[in-house]
Amino acid sequence: MTSQASGSNALWGSRFEGGPSDALVALSRSVHFDWRLAGYDIAGTRAHIMALQSAGYLTLAEHEKLDRSLVELLGRVQQGSFVAKPSDEDVHSALERGLIEIAGVELGGKVRAGRSRNDQIATLIRTYLLDQANEISAMVIDLVEVLVSRAEEHLGVAMPGRTHFQHAQPVALSHHLLAHAWPLVRDLERLHDWRKRANLSPYGAGALAGNTLGLDPNLVAHELGLAGPTQNSIDATASRDVVAEFAFIASLIGINLSRFSEEIIIWASAEFDYVKLHDAYSTGSSIMPQKKNPDIAELARGKSGRLIGDLTGLLATLKGLPLAYNRDLQEDKEPVFDMVDTLTVLLPAFTGMVATLEFNRSRLEQLAPAGFSLATDVAEWLVKKKVAFRDAHDITGRMVSFCEQNKLELHEVPDADMAAISVHLTPDVRDVLTVGGSIKARAGAGGTALPRVLEQIAALRKIAPKREA
Ligand code: ARG
Repeated sequence: MTSQASGSNALWGSRFEGGPSDALVALSRSVHFDWRLAGYDIAGTRAHIMALQSAGYLTLAEHEKLDRSLVELLGRVQQGSFVAKPSDEDVHSALERGLIEIAGVELGGKVRAGRSRNDQIATLIRTYLLDQANEISAMVIDLVEVLVSRAEEHLGVAMPGRTHFQHAQPVALSHHLLAHAWPLVRDLERLHDWRKRANLSPYGAGALAGNTLGLDPNLVAHELGLAGPTQNSIDATASRDVVAEFAFIASLIGINLSRFSEEIIIWASAEFDYVKLHDAYSTGSSIMPQKKNPDIAELARGKSGRLIGDLTGLLATLKGLPLAYNRDLQEDKEPVFDMVDTLTVLLPAFTGMVATLEFNRSRLEQLAPAGFSLATDVAEWLVKKKVAFRDAHDITGRMVSFCEQNKLELHEVPDADMAAISVHLTPDVRDVLTVGGSIKARAGAGGTALPRVLEQIAALRKIAPKREA
């Protein structure tokens, strides 16, 4: 019924009679997932023993021996020669056991003074996520760079622009591709801004109320590469909004990939035939030899659901918690670990797929004017002739209806029929009835005209290479 988890290597137990039940041990254990924090835990402990030494709780010789032992322990963890045992509750207990194995119980036993697993874990999740944010940002930058170069490669190619998924107005393919780059740039900015709040050290908060030993929290923060200590020990140990904010940004990255994926899946269908996927970034069917499937895009779309689940699960965990630390907070880790793992496999595959997409230029060009997508150009041409927009809309609507009845395109309406629709419709309206003219005319801020697209490319080239130091 009971195990020895509260025995020699547990971090607590002296006031308990007998050990915890096996069922509790099994429930409580986190070492199978928090082991990935081992390097961060050891870095935290190395910073902590500096604070202990500087406050006079360790001699220089003790500090030196402990630090050497921690470096040795890190080496063993990295080689895999030190691993967690079933009896270790979490990464912190396992590593304290490892330190004691190397430094001896007397010296190793001094390390826990002035800290709690509560301030420890609140710090480690930050240092871990800060590193992961860098990795993820670098992968998002790669994707932005690919989008920018694909846009540059296809300058001057028109495609149908849609609203409500219906043909709306022709746009430049480059403009459309860049429309997928900008949200990713905002995700990068979000991660950059998030760092301000993540970049603080809860070390010194202790279990919840602070510590009595006069340990220097600035020293620890500095050693961990963080900007400084947190301001309130209760908040520091109890809050996970920094984790939730990371999770929100990670899920938004997933959502942005998913939106693009939906288009790629449709574009690759026989009906659309806008793009061909590269063999290396598409899959076949086990039964249908002809198939070429957009699995990366589908997995991106599917995994965005999973990322949203991670975020909402975490938010639900946080919503009912009184101050300060509650064990519920152990549940903060698996969702963000899963998000990190998911984005880490997804982003490179997605970027490769986009880098190798083959666009069917002639098909895109041919469909760009379909569905009377130049009608707005007629209406705006009328406005330039001082016709009120309300009337211009009405006149153009009648022209579209004439075309539908007579199976004509807008530029094919005979002069006499135009005149019959409205005196304002003179033959020179045909000047704006080309896809190229329509795109060129949309030269206002953020428009699809070539100069505006080139401006975006230049702006994105400046933003994208900014990686975190
Ligand atoms: N494994 C715990 C967590 O992830 C560490 C903190 C445990 N603290 C405690 N008082 N039981 O949150």
